[in-house]
Amino acid sequence: MGEEIGVGPWQGEWPAGDQWDPELLRDGDRRNVVDGYRYWRQEAIVADLDSRRHDFHVAVENWGHDFNIGSVIRTANAFNAKAFHVLGRRRWNRRGAMVTDRYQHEYHHGTVEELTEWAARAGAERGAIPLIGIDNLPGSRPLETYPLPRECVLVFGQEGPGLSDAMRAACEVVLHIEQFGSTRSINAGAAAAVAMHAWVRRHVFGQIAGRQGAGGQVPEGNALDGRRAHPVQSLGDP
Ligand SMILES: C[S@@+](CC[C@H](N)C(=O)[O-])C[C@H]1O[C@@H](n2cnc3c(N)ncnc32)[C@H](O)[C@@H]1O
Repeated sequence: MGEEIGVGPWQGEWPAGDQWDPELLRDGDRRNVVDGYRYWRQEAIVADLDSRRHDFHVAVENWGHDFNIGSVIRTANAFNAKAFHVLGRRRWNRRGAMVTDRYQHEYHHGTVEELTEWAARAGAERGAIPLIGIDNLPGSRPLETYPLPRECVLVFGQEGPGLSDAMRAACEVVLHIEQFGSTRSINAGAAAAVAMHAWVRRHVFGQIAGRQGAGGQVPEGNALDGRRAHPVQSLGDP
């Protein structure tokens, strides 16, 4: 038998406070939560996360019931995104999310227009939040050197088609993650993790997206020129 996840019943006198869940204290807490939230009620965890959520949102296109969505949503929880948005089909494949969606705010938009209408007044003082497409598409720019705005919606496509044409048109810019091997793309869940972490590096750790190497080029010997999946805008050209 494998090792049991989490913690057993609370030992000793129960702590006082609204955040504690009597059932979890009594039976133990086997949920996928960090130790600091052990035995906390779900609503108390959400309220605590709400008090310090980051200013980026995550949106995923769900026209084909892509199983990668769950992985994107789980990562959005890990990086404490403001909310996640599902476009297209309302039902999405929750398996990969490992119930992390319960601690987040979920929006559904039936069409790209619905998302753009929402984004037009969802920012601070009811201003617009830009949609930033994440995909390696013709004309996309390198994420590594682009100044990601603090308030933004990072939008991901699905396996196969990637971002839809309508979504691409709605995005202020499309950013690609630089690749160096032979595959056309990386898994959407992996791409989402890289993009969210780029936001964290810039806006939590103050690391400015800089030009790499002389003139913003990929260091010599790594250049993919002529071997990319699609033509892209020059590196280091935000
Ligand atoms: C299989 S990929 C899409 C296909 C890709 N556009 C192509 O030309 O083959 C699915 C999703 O993963 C994400 N993705 C995968 N690789 C990426 C990369 N190198 N840069 C940015 N996003 C990527 C994007 O959100 C994309 O929509």
